[in-house]
Amino acid sequence: MKTIAIVATGGTIAGVGQAGKTIAYHAGEFKIDQIIESIPMINELANIEEYQVLNVDSNEMNPSRWIALSKTINELLAQDTIDGVVVTHGTDTLDETAYYLTLTINSQKPVIITGAMRPASATSADGPFNLYESVALAIHDEAYGQGVMGVFSSTIYSGRDIQKVNNFKVDAFDQKSLGCLGYMQDQEVYFYSKTFKKHTYLSRFSKKDINELPHVGIVYFYAGASAQILYDMAQYHEGIIITGSGSGNYSQDWLKAIEDLSNQGIVFVRCSRVTQGIIFNDEIFDPHHLCIPGNTLTPQKARVLLMLSLSQTHDLEEMRHIFNEY
Ligand code: SIN
Repeated sequence: MKTIAIVATGGTIAGVGQAGKTIAYHAGEFKIDQIIESIPMINELANIEEYQVLNVDSNEMNPSRWIALSKTINELLAQDTIDGVVVTHGTDTLDETAYYLTLTINSQKPVIITGAMRPASATSADGPFNLYESVALAIHDEAYGQGVMGVFSSTIYSGRDIQKVNNFKVDAFDQKSLGCLGYMQDQEVYFYSKTFKKHTYLSRFSKKDINELPHVGIVYFYAGASAQILYDMAQYHEGIIITGSGSGNYSQDWLKAIEDLSNQGIVFVRCSRVTQGIIFNDEIFDPHHLCIPGNTLTPQKARVLLMLSLSQTHDLEEMRHIFNEY
């Protein structure tokens, strides 16, 4: 039997509220051993080791917690006795942690991240089943080498592309036009595709001892948005992610501010507030190619990649290359 380490960080999967209800609960209350006790069948899948590293609402995650979590998981996976890791996490920022781990875990062993939309005390809580299927994926031979994956509502997503797309329904995750990697049915695993983007053991970031990340902020463009926000953000950040309209677009005032600030060394990435599509170089909105196109990344995922990139290089061409590779 394989051994899977469950690394618990909190979230709604560990949330407790009024018995049976789905609202007005506190995330990160139950300990992981209490959740596992409610899924006796999980012990038929694998030997389970429990590691309660945090018990927080995922809105309390931050770069230093990502760094510590990634180090803990790398240490666990380096042990011959551990065959894979399942991370339990709040759904609100699960997408960001999934991408940070995708870029920084240095192992081919599977890392699965999951959570829940209903607290553990709700009727038909979804967390125990998501956790069961995550362990089933973590022990599956085909999961080896596939990097970090999310499991939610019997669907397998890549750590790069998983996004929260619904703030109410149990089926809350998707990877939009990129579909999904596969499906689960109880302990059965059905893979259909794999990501071609570099991850985990192939990632340049997983080879580095990262202890600190530079400040990168996100700004949102809307009709009439003042460019002053860019100057304000630039005072405290090395990089800025633009959540532009359409194909990562903005007004001429914003273009001028981006040109000014790029000349002062601020690094910009263009993403979009539109949730599907891809951002390329653009001759109209970025005529001097000062910005890095955000590819298919959401703004919050582009921020993760820019923070890691800036921790290694300030060369714009190299960073463009990174944004194509990862
Ligand atoms: C959280 O992200 O910790 C709260 C929301 C959730 O887990 O669904």
